[in-house]
Amino acid sequence: MSQYHAVPVPPMSIRFDQAAGTLSPEGPTLTRRMSDLEGLFRDHEAWEKAVADGDPVVYSVISSPVPEIDRELPQSITTIQPGTTGGELWMTKGHQHPNHQGEIYLGISGRGGLLMFDGTETRWVEMTPGTIGYMPPGWAHRSVNIGDEPYSFLAVYPGGAGHDYGWVLEHGMGLRALSGADGVELVDYVEG
Ligand SMILES: [Fe+2]
Repeated sequence: MSQYHAVPVPPMSIRFDQAAGTLSPEGPTLTRRMSDLEGLFRDHEAWEKAVADGDPVVYSVISSPVPEIDRELPQSITTIQPGTTGGELWMTKGHQHPNHQGEIYLGISGRGGLLMFDGTETRWVEMTPGTIGYMPPGWAHRSVNIGDEPYSFLAVYPGGAGHDYGWVLEHGMGLRALSGADGVELVDYVEG
């Protein structure tokens, strides 16, 4: 089983194979199915139906072997499948860093959006291959696939930042991304 590298981590190169969707060497891989996204879609009945109807994989996260500990700089590649549930575009759970620190995403393939929310203000950044999205400390972030193909992006983040998924359940994300005429229509956040 792949896992984080032992500390101290030596200087290394990590190869991303886009066709295979793999990192080499690689760390842990996370697979998020529809059932893992409870309470996040606006249309709860549509979410329940999707879970009962095969519980599809919504996104996966492959990590580099660099550990998530303070002073290290781990990376991961997330791939969100195209799709909608109740008209809402498939997305990541979204999280806040409990230890407020910044992060960058780099679009690799497909079309996506980066939704950021600091509890008051929202920002939406369209992500295409080559776009760098920057999340300042204190801004919760969620990624959305707004295209017809898988959307993949690289994340680079401070290893001590942590992941608080409950923050989004408690505070929302400010906006929701629905399927629209131009790919995406942003609407006010309404509880799921
Ligand atoms: Fe993050």
